[in-house]
Amino acid sequence: MQFRPLHDAFGAEIIGVPNDLQMDDATFHAVEQAWFRHSILLFRGLRMTPEQHVSFTRRLGPLHIMEPLSMNLPGHPEVFVVSNAIKDGKPIGLKRAGEGYHTDGEDKCIPNAGSFLYAIEVPPEEGDTVFVDMYAVHDALPADIRRELEGRRARFSRIDLHHVHYPLLPALTEAQKLDRPDVWHPLLRRHPRTGRTSLYIGRWARDIEGMPEQEGRALIAELQAFAQQPRFAYRHQWRVGDAIVWDNRCTQHRATGFNDDVHVRTMYRTTLEGDVPIMASSLSEQTV
Ligand code: OGA
Ligand code: MN
Repeated sequence: MQFRPLHDAFGAEIIGVPNDLQMDDATFHAVEQAWFRHSILLFRGLRMTPEQHVSFTRRLGPLHIMEPLSMNLPGHPEVFVVSNAIKDGKPIGLKRAGEGYHTDGEDKCIPNAGSFLYAIEVPPEEGDTVFVDMYAVHDALPADIRRELEGRRARFSRIDLHHVHYPLLPALTEAQKLDRPDVWHPLLRRHPRTGRTSLYIGRWARDIEGMPEQEGRALIAELQAFAQQPRFAYRHQWRVGDAIVWDNRCTQHRATGFNDDVHVRTMYRTTLEGDVPIMASSLSEQTV
């Protein structure tokens, strides 16, 4: 097994694993350790069935089933489809998913630990995904800002921002609003497996605890602008057969768009259940 760095600070392509990702425990363990070390892992030239995609992901942790089920692969509720394709007059998946920096499930009490996206059909150009190393963002934050964030949480709100991020989808119903209440997460998040601290923020972040609304929103915008500097990012140009597993606890990502009137882009995603985000503090850092 070999690794090719994708970026100076994070991300690696993993070379030398079977292209259906079925492997023995020792090999799997090495892949998992590499995932924690690099935060995103790229596999190329895969040929996985949905069953193989699911069974590999399940070794990383319990799977999360995305709702509504209509966006999932028929017969495989564990496989969420990101696509602009139409079949028999119906969309086969979610169109324009993830345009805007985010981490999957950040607007839920228990955000998703990781996601594993597999390229089935890609446009001849564009449709890239950008990943951001949020450990590096945290480590580079000016000390006064880091101090300001210490011990604080942000409010993440699907209710406030759904129409902003999903203008093509219908407005949330009252039942959906009850199902997706606002949540509060620590801005400085400690990773349960690596012990490292990242800046935990994304596009559903709305307000900061203990700060006047305007000040909190300005700080969120400032943090996102800081995180979006090219030095923290890896931009992936997809080929069919590529798959990337990313860690939502320490990276952000976004889709970049493409000419979706002309071209088709279809990606299959498995999603891991997660854990309640742990607040990092100077004290807990010392006990790692
Ligand atoms: C996702 C996502 C981005 C993309 O599947 O979680 O944000 O480029 N996808 O498809
Ligand atoms: Mn996403």
